[in-house]
Amino acid sequence: MGERVLVTGATGKTGRSLVSLLNAAGLPHRAASRGGAAPFDWSRPDTWDAALREVGSVYLVAPAGVDDAPARMAAFLDLAIRHGARRLVLLSMASLPAGGPGPGQTHQWLQDNAEDWAVLCPTAFMQNFSEGPFLASIRDEDTLYSNTGQGRVPFISTLDIARAAFAALTAPAALNRDFTLTGDESLSYDRVAELIGQARGRPVTHAHITTAAMAERFVRRGLSEGMAMFLAAGYQTIADGAQDHIADGLRALTGQPATRFQAFAEANAAVWTRP
Ligand SMILES: NC(=O)c1ccc[n+]([C@@H]2O[C@H](COP(=O)([O-])OP(=O)(O)OC[C@H]3O[C@@H](n4cnc5c(N)ncnc54)[C@H](OP(=O)(O)O)[C@@H]3O)[C@@H](O)[C@H]2O)c1
Repeated sequence: MGERVLVTGATGKTGRSLVSLLNAAGLPHRAASRGGAAPFDWSRPDTWDAALREVGSVYLVAPAGVDDAPARMAAFLDLAIRHGARRLVLLSMASLPAGGPGPGQTHQWLQDNAEDWAVLCPTAFMQNFSEGPFLASIRDEDTLYSNTGQGRVPFISTLDIARAAFAALTAPAALNRDFTLTGDESLSYDRVAELIGQARGRPVTHAHITTAAMAERFVRRGLSEGMAMFLAAGYQTIADGAQDHIADGLRALTGQPATRFQAFAEANAAVWTRP
């Protein structure tokens, strides 16, 4: 048993920021991913023992594109508990209940098997615009393409998710519940385009496209047709208002308000500027 925090997905959007917070606080940790400081692969159980050495708590980011990820994560969590890990904090997503697909299965596993756990359920990340699927067309075509219509989302910054994860990992007692993490303002994609345009000093247009056209854009980015359709259908639910709910999970964990989209856009203005 140890005190080290194992951060999976440590090179990703939330994991990277969590590692910075742990560094700043001087807390021992291991940054794990396939390309990170500690080699760790969800598909390769032979990498798991070394990752779990002297670990007291784990931040869990479900892998995309790994077959049967929930079963692999359950096997890993069994091993983590046998290694002496006490606290387990999972990144899931808003509106996905325990028992739902993907991370919902791991959420259920924690409820059923763990003594000290928390599940973070964020809405869509602000960083999807600055380093995710929307960046290239905003920068290169001054256009944000989506099938979200006039639907609104209380986007959350991955820095805020990392702060929530840090709070859950270091809380003095077991939390044993889930936390829905959202921003404090619900924005349409029209408004997102406007705020990014203002921040970088050059207008951005929100092009309203169909769900089929959205899927086609994902296929052109290299996703399989099935995954592209799944994601595009997810964005379609935004048009129907599925994500337009503000929750208090971030404040409950950190005591802090959420980053505002305008502040995020101003801090990242350079990434949307063509060289
Ligand atoms: N994006 C959103 O708006 C959003 C909203 C709500 C919830 N989420 C959830 O957030 C999570 C992260 O999603 P993201 O797309 O933003 O990714 P991300 O965390 O930015 O990147 C994925 C991370 O996982 C690691 N990884 C990938 N495959 C791996 C494997 N086989 N073994 C070990 N590590 C692996 C990657 O590092 P290496 O490549 O170095 O291995 C990277 O560190 C997902 O579970 C997603 O469902 C996302």
